[in-house]
Amino acid sequence: MKNFEYFNPTRIVFGEGSIAQLKDLIPLESRVLMLYGGGSIRKNGVYQQVTDALSKHELFEFGGIEPNPEYATLMKAVELIRENKIDFLLAVGGGSVIDGTKFVAMAALYQGEDPWDIVDQGLASKLKEALPFGTVLTLPATSSEMNNKSVISNHEKCRKKSFASDLIYPKFSILDPTVTYSLPKKQVRNGLVDAYIHVLEQYLTYPVGATMQDRQSEALLMTIHEIALSALEMDPPDYTARANYMWVCSNALNGLVGMGVPQDWATHGIGHALTVLYGLDHAESLAVVLPWLMWYKREQKHDKLLQYGSRVLGQNAEHPAEQIDKTIEALSAFFHSLGMPTTLTAYGLDPDKVAEEMQKQLEDEKFTRGEHRDVTPAAAAEILRLSR
Ligand code: NZQ
Ligand code: ZN
Repeated sequence: MKNFEYFNPTRIVFGEGSIAQLKDLIPLESRVLMLYGGGSIRKNGVYQQVTDALSKHELFEFGGIEPNPEYATLMKAVELIRENKIDFLLAVGGGSVIDGTKFVAMAALYQGEDPWDIVDQGLASKLKEALPFGTVLTLPATSSEMNNKSVISNHEKCRKKSFASDLIYPKFSILDPTVTYSLPKKQVRNGLVDAYIHVLEQYLTYPVGATMQDRQSEALLMTIHEIALSALEMDPPDYTARANYMWVCSNALNGLVGMGVPQDWATHGIGHALTVLYGLDHAESLAVVLPWLMWYKREQKHDKLLQYGSRVLGQNAEHPAEQIDKTIEALSAFFHSLGMPTTLTAYGLDPDKVAEEMQKQLEDEKFTRGEHRDVTPAAAAEILRLSR
């Protein structure tokens, strides 16, 4: 096991009816800015619950943060914060609203010239202050509610990039499974697949004797297999399945299973560029890469592929190569059973053309990922060519 330092200060308040606790979680003297997305919270009653809970607080609001939050939109929130001397932020939404709020929390106190440098120039880890914020999670998927990461898009620069800082752990996150009842089935599917792939990015590398992290990762993956179909039930939604869906997503990327182990993140890196160039949802962009990356890297990932296949998917065979083939097939079949495509062609995209365009894009980004740092733009192009 590698050396590590673990820190996670986010308070989790979990369960039906927990939004009402907001009134005690945010200091009464705060000037609060509530940030949200395109309006789902107005339709499903979450907006009302939040404003009721904060009726005694001085509350401002900023709506319109889009999926894959845009730098230009977020800078408008920064302006509002400075004008109104806001000192506490509340993100009410999914990963995009929470990630956007994390950026805003840093940018509002940033004195430098160009706040995009926080994302692009690795400045985030060097900054000393950010506004405090909490979250009300409405879409379980990213674990942004319980981690120190944020992913921001900037279409003008043709980029989607992540940054991290311990200053952007939420002070608290409220997880009420009933707020997921209004999610379209597609978003639940996306959340399940995103969380599943978060675990694999941290697990499917090479063995380093991290028995507990391996077993915890396997527990998360097996939980997703066990609850996925019930979590996709819409009519009526199943509380227990939604509660497990919510908590498993938070645990998939809150840092714990990634401690002391090598990590990959090539699928996410390639996926972010696919979202920028072709508009695929985040989880969709991952599912068209991962099975092919597993196949392309089957020698480097040999031991972990066998372990994953046998322990999680129940795939065993006399010959390791056969077991690995069966494992990758079983993973794809699982994604298909959730209604998630695993090929670029399923979106009407030509893999050869995508590979060519993506190689240019990734070269421009100076892309290298993977647990051996060997997923180069050329390797990514080869992986994408297989996605048919
Ligand atoms: O904007 P509104 O109207 O709220 O609608 C949203 C949005 O259209 C809707 N939605 C959210 N909660 C709902 C709801 N609709 C009905 N009922 C509810 N309860 O869902 C749509 C998608 O929301 P979004 O926040 O974009 O989805 P998600 O949570 O999947 O976040 C995706 C973003 O997170 C980044 C992704 O790259 C992407 O930008 N990620 C962040 C990570 C992190 N911070 O650690 C890690 C991830 O790997 C990921 O990269
Ligand atoms: Zn993800």
